[in-house]
Amino acid sequence: EHSADVQKQVLEWYAAEHRDLPWRSTSDPYAILVSEIMLQQTQVDRVLPKYHQFLEAFPTLADLAAAPTAEVIKVWVPLGYNSRAVRLQAIARQVIAEHNGQIPATIDELLTLKGIGRYTAGAIACFAYRQQVATVDTNIRRVLHRLFIGVEHDETRLNDAQMLALAEEVLPAGEAYNWNQALMDLGATICTSNNPQCQQCPLTSCCKAYEEMSQYSLFPSGTVL
Ligand code: ADE
Repeated sequence: EHSADVQKQVLEWYAAEHRDLPWRSTSDPYAILVSEIMLQQTQVDRVLPKYHQFLEAFPTLADLAAAPTAEVIKVWVPLGYNSRAVRLQAIARQVIAEHNGQIPATIDELLTLKGIGRYTAGAIACFAYRQQVATVDTNIRRVLHRLFIGVEHDETRLNDAQMLALAEEVLPAGEAYNWNQALMDLGATICTSNNPQCQQCPLTSCCKAYEEMSQYSLFPSGTVL
């Protein structure tokens, strides 16, 4: 079956090729929250040094909640989009005020935190609490669309609810963590939005977009696969 095929290949690729990223070797929900907010608008390479610096300056959620906002922004500044720092601190304060300082573990409760959307709620539930939930960011959306639907066109684009439904349908049982992280790595390194590196992709044999591109010769001329 097609999705079983895709699942197997994605998980095998991830086991062999995944990036060692520091937020993948912690289960501290606070550290994972910090990473996800940083990664929302900033590439991994630029997040890495800041992630360490930020956690050194504010090692716990309580430290962050108690710090003067100006201090938090000062540490954040080189990352840009500073409103994220204010939002992150507000989340920390809300968790202290309403959840006894414990970042909630379910998507529904995470969504009650101001400034956390469905993607971030899913990422925290999955990456911090190992819940078997789907989550869709721009990378995951693009990869799933290409694998399961085909080349993206405006007319065939799924809306957010449809895409989440697809993500839930194809989530491999018991493997949500590796699956979600794998789709992000694929989207960031191979299945990029422009010039996808299909010649390096482990999934060409089960990718709808690849099949379509081959069938209609949609690869740029000169492409060597
Ligand atoms: N972008 C958002 N979340 C990420 C993660 N956990 N790993 C890599 N890139 C990401």
